[in-house]
Amino acid sequence: MKVAVLGAAGGIGQALSLLLKTQLPAGSELALYDVSPVVPGVAVDLSHIPTDVAVSGHGKDDLAEALTGCDIVLIPAGVPRKPGMDRSDLFNINAGIVKNLIEAVADNCPKACIGVITNPVNTTVAIAAEVLKAKGVYDKNKLFGVTTLDVIRSETFIANLKGLKTNEIHVPVIGGHSGTTILPLLSQVDGVSFTDEEVASLTTRIQNAGTEVVEAKAGGGSATLSMGQAAARFCLSLVAAMQGEAVVEYAYVQVDGSDDAAFFAHPVRLGINGVEEILPYGDLSDFEENAKNTMLEGLRGDIKMGVDFVNG
Ligand code: 2OP
Repeated sequence: MKVAVLGAAGGIGQALSLLLKTQLPAGSELALYDVSPVVPGVAVDLSHIPTDVAVSGHGKDDLAEALTGCDIVLIPAGVPRKPGMDRSDLFNINAGIVKNLIEAVADNCPKACIGVITNPVNTTVAIAAEVLKAKGVYDKNKLFGVTTLDVIRSETFIANLKGLKTNEIHVPVIGGHSGTTILPLLSQVDGVSFTDEEVASLTTRIQNAGTEVVEAKAGGGSATLSMGQAAARFCLSLVAAMQGEAVVEYAYVQVDGSDDAAFFAHPVRLGINGVEEILPYGDLSDFEENAKNTMLEGLRGDIKMGVDFVNG
């Protein structure tokens, strides 16, 4: 299994790379790419950790080498939010970064599964799809927006609120990865019930959790460590699925024939070729149905912005 992290010297990239160095199966390769001159040092640093995962560092002229032979490509590259910014404010810089990286993925490892972390995810995933289509290598089953952070945040907040163990809580989170497009399905959390007030306040907290971190970091960026953990969980699930285990994760994927939006986070059954099956998200409460209907237009607009960016 060869995994590339594009943007490996950044805050998310370093946390993610550390978790993968210690948790990928023995015999895996981890290729770290970044335009930052620090990336060879990050690779040397990680290479001293005694696991059977080979780490290589690749600077700005070595993207092709990092990608050749990859099974999974994870993309946290780009700039993070500062206080007062919405994820969509990152579009002008990050859209071009994602476009260039995906072109290189198409040229060097067109069959790899791709996990896009770079914000605004609602839009950058659509950019990636259009770039891959233009290159003639798009496989909708292999392109994912990583929304796992919304799931792990939900699990943590609910466990804390209800005094439960985090590993006992499983929270479906559908939609997108920005503000109100993030839709936790609290009505489907097994064994836990919520008052209407709790549903309203938890939903808002989960939707604003990224902003909570941005404000707490006071100009120093956005979530890196929890995002690294979330992306590692997603990647390790993908690795397990590619090795034959039955795994379900929530991810932002292309959903054909849906009334929601062209891309929407769903539960997906993963397998050797990426998405094996997009599972239904089940019945929504009135609160959730209303929240979904209110955010769909915004999410569709985010997706259109990505499509228009590539196709003019
Ligand atoms: C977050 O939700 C960075 O988008 C990421 O905090």
